[in-house]
Amino acid sequence: ARITLRQLLDHAADQGYGVPAFNINNMEQGLAIMEAAKACNAPVIIQASRGARSYAGDIMLSKMIDALTEMYPDIPICMHQDHGNNEATCMSAIRHGFTSVMMDGSLEADMKTPASYDYNVTITERVARMAHWVGASVEGELGVLGSLETGEAEAEDGSGAEGKLSHDQLLTDPDQALDFVLRTRVDALAIACGTSHGAYKFSRKPDGDILAMGVIEAIHRKIPNTHLVMHGSSSVPQELQDIINEFGGEMPQTFGVPVEEIVRGIRHGVRKVNIDTDCRMAMTGQFRKIATSKASEFDPRKFLKPAMDAMRDLCRDRFEAFGTAGQA
Ligand code: G3H
Ligand code: 13P
Ligand code: NA
Ligand code: ZN
Repeated sequence: ARITLRQLLDHAADQGYGVPAFNINNMEQGLAIMEAAKACNAPVIIQASRGARSYAGDIMLSKMIDALTEMYPDIPICMHQDHGNNEATCMSAIRHGFTSVMMDGSLEADMKTPASYDYNVTITERVARMAHWVGASVEGELGVLGSLETGEAEAEDGSGAEGKLSHDQLLTDPDQALDFVLRTRVDALAIACGTSHGAYKFSRKPDGDILAMGVIEAIHRKIPNTHLVMHGSSSVPQELQDIINEFGGEMPQTFGVPVEEIVRGIRHGVRKVNIDTDCRMAMTGQFRKIATSKASEFDPRKFLKPAMDAMRDLCRDRFEAFGTAGQA
């Protein structure tokens, strides 16, 4: 059954659990998420980026969600737009059956330049008003994601915000967060605490200097009734780095967000946890393994099935760690 982000996160707050939001681009990722959810009776958030929408096509994506809803009738599904950049992206997602949208006004619509606070409030409030008219939920973002180690936004490819950012821009301010949710009326708030998208988040196992979980606690004290969202929350498990590198990959050593830090966040108001990179790595590890160890293989299913199973197992681990399991 379809559910809005607001309905799901209200339940999560009431029961004290968090919900991983996994990205979808294709059928295999959809099936992996749903098989994991079914195995442990977890509600799901499936999210599509703008890139996913142009990769699969809006009609394909929306019919895939219809199919998954029909195939797994007992699992509540929230379909969410990840990082909407303007009103048109958010409204067209809702038109295609998404029950929730993220209006990311932390960056300008080009998604490269840090936005002014006024821009963020104005565009997010407008999207929230329109989405709420038609019963959809809205996630906003305050603070620019990026590395506290280097001062760069979007450390993965350096193509994010221009120039070095200050700690002020890279960490959400609790007082401003209160003003932001009052003015925009968002259902959930993505915050910045030193995480960034992609595999290359930290050059060492993160401590409080580079992963500022304390900021989350301070925000939660200010706005205890707002559902918090952590982006860039892949854990980048060592075993997935190892399997990729064992079979010909070249990923330099890197560190993600430890699962236990996310669990700590969930004790302090984090309700939605965005994970894409870990799923990509789980699948790619299997692609590389089959390509190398069964070099004569050419049936795509022989690559995709193990990849799907690896992503399913990853998703299930997160449902169990975050307390989502058993909540469907
Ligand atoms: O926010 C980033 C997500 O991992 C989606 O990435 O834009 O490459 O689909 P993408
Ligand atoms: P990761 O790159 O850490 O998986 O983050 C995904 C994300 O935040 C999607 O919005
Ligand atoms: Na999102
Ligand atoms: Zn994100």
